[in-house]
Amino acid sequence: MIFKISSFSDHSQGSSLNLLPFFILASLTPLLGLGILTTGCTQKKEITPISSSSPGEVQTQALIKRGRTVYQAQCIACHHSDPKKPGALGPDVYGSSKELLTARILHADYPPDYKAKRYTHQMQAMPHLKDDIDAIHAYLNH
Ligand code: HEC
Repeated sequence: MIFKISSFSDHSQGSSLNLLPFFILASLTPLLGLGILTTGCTQKKEITPISSSSPGEVQTQALIKRGRTVYQAQCIACHHSDPKKPGALGPDVYGSSKELLTARILHADYPPDYKAKRYTHQMQAMPHLKDDIDAIHAYLNH
């Protein structure tokens, strides 16, 4: 391509030199655009929210962190510190729905027709955690 340009305008070397950066830029621009596009796509994939109600990666991570703190402080007396495992008193709770967590934590109840893992009624309601249901849910479902 470069050879073509210079041979085409060999009577005016200056103009071919001036054109060169333009051609380099012109041929690089689509590549650059593609690069940005690809990066954009990759990033989009990474920040895909866990559930449709998740506001975004940063907030989800903060919510999970908060949920972990609350869980470790309020729940592991009975549940396992790894929510996927059954604890001393309480069953494994990983994957609990928001409906179940709300019923269970706020009212010591279950959603209608829910088949509980244990019917021991040892867990008390903890209404003071009403603002942390979202965080606990995020932690138990991440
Ligand atoms: C005093 C012990 C205790 C504490 C503290 C406790 N739980 Fe429980 N939890 C239980 C027991 C025992 C059960 C089984 C049913 C029952 O006895 O109430 C249970 C059941 C559950 C269930 C229902 C599981 C199912 O699918 O049937 C969920 C969800 C749950 N707990 C979440 C939590 C969370 C989240 C916390 C902390 C905010 C917590 N629990 C704190 C003892 C406890």
